[in-house]
Amino acid sequence: MPYAKIIGSGGYLPPRIVSNDDLAADLASRHIETSDTWIRERTGIRQRHIADADMTTSQLATWAAQAALENAGIEAAEVDLIIVATSTPDFVFPSTACLVQANLNAPGGAAFDVQAVCSGFVYALATADAFIRAGRSKTALVIGAEVFSSILDWSDRGTCVLFGDGAGAVVLRASEEPGIIAAQLNADGRQMGILCAAGNVSHGKVVGDPFLRMDGQAVFKLAVTSLTKSAHDVCDQAGVSLDDVNWLVPHQANVRIINFLGRRLGIGDDRVVITVDQHANTSAASVPLAFDVARRDGRIKAGDTVLMQGVGGGFTWGSILVKI
Ligand code: UT7
Repeated sequence: MPYAKIIGSGGYLPPRIVSNDDLAADLASRHIETSDTWIRERTGIRQRHIADADMTTSQLATWAAQAALENAGIEAAEVDLIIVATSTPDFVFPSTACLVQANLNAPGGAAFDVQAVCSGFVYALATADAFIRAGRSKTALVIGAEVFSSILDWSDRGTCVLFGDGAGAVVLRASEEPGIIAAQLNADGRQMGILCAAGNVSHGKVVGDPFLRMDGQAVFKLAVTSLTKSAHDVCDQAGVSLDDVNWLVPHQANVRIINFLGRRLGIGDDRVVITVDQHANTSAASVPLAFDVARRDGRIKAGDTVLMQGVGGGFTWGSILVKI
């Protein structure tokens, strides 16, 4: 049975950077108080990239995909599977993956979206891995892409300061050499209320609340406990010790969550990739963007063992162990 090996990665961030000070000034003009100090101390976030009003998730996803294909040195025509993880699709349908496939002018293969919020990329990667191992795909594009700014309530300081927009992608190829060596996906739907955007379009109208709502402390606690257990489970599955993990690439929601997790797993700061300071929380895009940054700057190298972890709405979480 072949492995799914990562042969390329890419990312795209909208050019407009909004610093904490910019955001605080904008909120102050609407009599909402926040500060760079509060945001940095509670979350580690310093800035976020925000898409212009006419930028769509499929565009961000396409640009990240093109960067990943170029990095892999392959043509889009070789791709026989596209999976996009997103909670901010362009349309109800068709899927964002179909729009990306059209943009890449690479018709014929399978294309579909995965919806697991901030765990979406890890869910999508595990799905593509299963396709490749089963012989149903040879070359897959797996993308996490979001315009999360479009579902934020910009009058809710408890959430609007936390998120940003962007896209990250990897190219997977069937290989005899180890690539993805273990995957672990979990959900607890009973916890749906702690992080949700519980609106819909029905009969031509928005029904329910279209904005993201979150019980931050509940999410914080569940994130730390679920990711700790998941890291142990995925390593046990692969027979790999946490000491042998060269890089932890966790979901980038809050640097305090990441630090807690690293300490609980005995993974020092020098083995943890952090981009939340620069990107904020880009939901399904956060893990592939962080992975791409560390791969391109030379921290993540061939032969490394990388633990990717996602966690978020649903409630969902998951881990992937990859040999680079
Ligand atoms: O992708 C997964 C999704 N999300 C997460 O993983 C997020 C998980 N949770 C968190 O990161 C943290 O819970 C937050 C960053 C959201 C909040 O941090 P916290 O330390 O749990 O703060 P808190 O919610 O307990 O709020 C503390 C205070 C409150 O004021 P009072 O009630 O103590 O007077 C809030 O009203 O901070 C206030 N506050 C703010 N103040 C300034 C909340 N948001 C802001 C803000 N600026 N933006």
